[in-house]
Amino acid sequence: MQELASGFNELEAELAEADAAGVRTAAASMSRAAAELPRLAPPAGTSSPDELGRSAKRVPVLLDEIGALAAEANLDGAEQAFAELRGTCVSCHQRFRAYDSARGHFPARGNTVSGRIALTDADGDALDDRSWVLLFLESTGGDAKWTHRRRNPKVSQHDRRFHPRVLPVVRGTTVDFPNDDSIFHNAFSVSKTKPFDLGTYKPGDSRSVTMTDTGLVKLYCNIHAEMLSSIVVLGNPWFALTDESGGFAITGVPDGEYKLRAWNDRGAAAEMPVELREEAWRTVELELEETRRVLPHKNKFGKPYPDKY
Ligand code: HEC
Repeated sequence: MQELASGFNELEAELAEADAAGVRTAAASMSRAAAELPRLAPPAGTSSPDELGRSAKRVPVLLDEIGALAAEANLDGAEQAFAELRGTCVSCHQRFRAYDSARGHFPARGNTVSGRIALTDADGDALDDRSWVLLFLESTGGDAKWTHRRRNPKVSQHDRRFHPRVLPVVRGTTVDFPNDDSIFHNAFSVSKTKPFDLGTYKPGDSRSVTMTDTGLVKLYCNIHAEMLSSIVVLGNPWFALTDESGGFAITGVPDGEYKLRAWNDRGAAAEMPVELREEAWRTVELELEETRRVLPHKNKFGKPYPDKY
């Protein structure tokens, strides 16, 4: 962990100096240190090693992206991926390590909002798996000036499903929709935020849509009714998805007054005001109730899906 931490500091310093070659080197050496992450023993009582492994997997993926963006001299993009890396460190720590004042909050930066949500389903039963809840901060001062400079996020189609179930993006971001399946698929949305129909396309092909307005974009496939996903277009990059235990952390947030909102695709919603100043670390707990079991929907012609397809 010490090696990972010094690698992190080095990467941050190279980014601050805008030294693309240095960023690549630091990202590569950090990748080697990150290999130890999945082998960490989670503290007793927190959770299974499996879950720790899942959080650990995101680190090398982000380091690869940072290295690749630096190789293209896209340091703004590398900086944005680094912000997500920081958030990944902090989220895993708040879950598996337990912060306290003696240890400090490294590598959190700016203001941080972290916490845990409780979630019940539409029958009122508490859910064990509390992942896929989106937490985001709406600034009362309006949306951030932000241009997505990283690789396009994607909603992939495979095994007759869209992945991920929920994709948060900042307004202006282009989302790719690769067909990673072995059969034809379609992707369409009749949402007010961004209506589109990408037509039917074959395995291996990909289409793209730029999300120009904030709001919800529900995504369906006109061939397979069980395929659905939600793209949530936000006004700034201060958001996080919960892990299985309902934990989340959003770090690097500038001073300001915000509304913290929680949302999931089965009708759960909550909000609370938060004021953040002077590197605040706010811990919140929210209780959410789902109101729907699944999302029944019509095909793109407004007709029900045939029973067999
Ligand atoms: C998969 C979960 C996970 C991720 C991701 C993670 N850590 Fe940790 N980290 C832990 C756990 C668990 C501990 C406490 C156990 C330990 O110190 O071995 C820890 C401890 C630490 C410590 C304290 C070490 C010490 O000797 O007290 C530092 C520093 C640290 N992590 C830095 C980082 C940085 C920087 C990142 C992001 C690049 C990161 N960690 C990502 C789980 C994670």
